[in-house]
Amino acid sequence: MNIKLCENLGANANTLVNFVYQDSDFISMNEGQDIYQIIKKNSQFKATYNEMFFTSLVKDGDLKNLIFVGLGKSKELTTDKIRKIAAKVIKKVIKENKSEINVGLIKNSHLKLENIFSAMVEGFLLGDYRFDKYKNSKKNSKDNKVIELSIILSNEEKTNQELLNNILIEIKEVVGFACIARNLVNEPANIMTPEKLANYVNKLGKENNFEVNIMDESLINELGMEAFLAVAKGSANSPKLIVMRYFGDDANKNDVLGLVGKGLTYDSGGYSIKPTESMVTMKSDMGGAATIISVIAAVAKMKLKVNLIGVVAACENLISDKSYKPGDIIGSMAGKYIEVLNTDAEGRLTLADAVYYIINKEKVTKVIDVATLTGAAIIALGNITTAAITNNEQFYFELKKSADLTDEKIWQLPSFDEYREQIISKIADLKNVGGRSAGTITAGLFIGEFVKDDIPWIHLDIAGTSWSDKSKDYYSAGATGIGVRLLYDYIKRYSTSK
Ligand code: BES
Ligand code: ZN
Ligand code: ZN
Repeated sequence: MNIKLCENLGANANTLVNFVYQDSDFISMNEGQDIYQIIKKNSQFKATYNEMFFTSLVKDGDLKNLIFVGLGKSKELTTDKIRKIAAKVIKKVIKENKSEINVGLIKNSHLKLENIFSAMVEGFLLGDYRFDKYKNSKKNSKDNKVIELSIILSNEEKTNQELLNNILIEIKEVVGFACIARNLVNEPANIMTPEKLANYVNKLGKENNFEVNIMDESLINELGMEAFLAVAKGSANSPKLIVMRYFGDDANKNDVLGLVGKGLTYDSGGYSIKPTESMVTMKSDMGGAATIISVIAAVAKMKLKVNLIGVVAACENLISDKSYKPGDIIGSMAGKYIEVLNTDAEGRLTLADAVYYIINKEKVTKVIDVATLTGAAIIALGNITTAAITNNEQFYFELKKSADLTDEKIWQLPSFDEYREQIISKIADLKNVGGRSAGTITAGLFIGEFVKDDIPWIHLDIAGTSWSDKSKDYYSAGATGIGVRLLYDYIKRYSTSK
């Protein structure tokens, strides 16, 4: 999609989108004013939230589609409602094969112009996402056009044009990278192997000016990452340790945020094998990796004043004569021994080494890990909210602010010491499963065992939020790219608060 700001109505647009409220006469564009008065008098259209009215008008001898989009009551409008309705409009427009659109900017007395504008643009761009490269009928179709969208500014809004243009440039990048995260996850596991993922990160690094260092099996072995290697052993596709470094704040070289992403390019469960239905979507088990890779690329592209290091321990969890087995005791880079009770609880093993590595070798001063870690997170919070575990309330509080601002929701789970007992093994230091109860908490605490006490750390379990079974709001069926807008916002606010 190409979005631009426009001072007057683009002559060629074939579709005009007008936002209207249930409880006021506001109309987001002058075009269609008269028709709207007639519609209001003579139709059932009440402009409740999500309601749409389709009609057409003749302008300069051309037939134009006119869509009235209900926003509900003015006081009840939120940025997330704007994002959702904007995506809905775009999905509708795609369905109708329309490609040139004029949209009037929404006005609201209790929301800031910048926030309204951002939410609209995000909704349009996120809603336009399509993953159809393997669908010849769509990919090659004449109807699969690039959407040209003009946001029409009123006279008074024109004074803000520069501000809005800068916001537009940034959002295009950030949402663009969220869509790259979606692409990485949506690629099937036979294509997106650890090596392919590593190559792609190399490419992103070159394009956006951050350093990428890929380590193969022998180097991973030299580092002593025994837990990571135990998981990777069952696959002929060898593991890759992907390290990304972006230094945009030279004055504070010792202040480095570490980002770790779970990078299972496929999770069959191993010998603790998953049922087929759960296995089909397990190409998505590198959603955490896709998120942090995309965030680092976005931050580097926007040249934010901050230092970031990212680590992904990429591998596949498969079955072969080399695979690790339930009952095995394995080592780890930290020197701790782990009793493997279930080979399907593999993510925490790869993350244990990745987190230990980023703190002890890369010397980061704070860590966020992002992982599709537990089915229990879906049971607890559904597909709406990401589960969080932390050892630092202040750090969590700052990230929560970004969650509220971006509507990428997170919620903290308790991590009282008592839960820790569940992951202590009788015959090794730790066991990789803490029983059925509090599964998301014990999984998070397992990773926490490899974090130094004085390093602020947040664990985000995105098992429920990184994937959507159906097209909904600003998501399409498949990967959601969750976490990219959240972490970008956090990093940006952090970089400017120093
Ligand atoms: N990758 C899965 C978690 C998952 C489940 C992600 C559903 C997305 C959707 C993880 O490796 C896993 O299998 N976890 C087990 C842990 C259990 C054996 C303690 C689970 O949640 O069942
Ligand atoms: Zn698993
Ligand atoms: Zn997994």
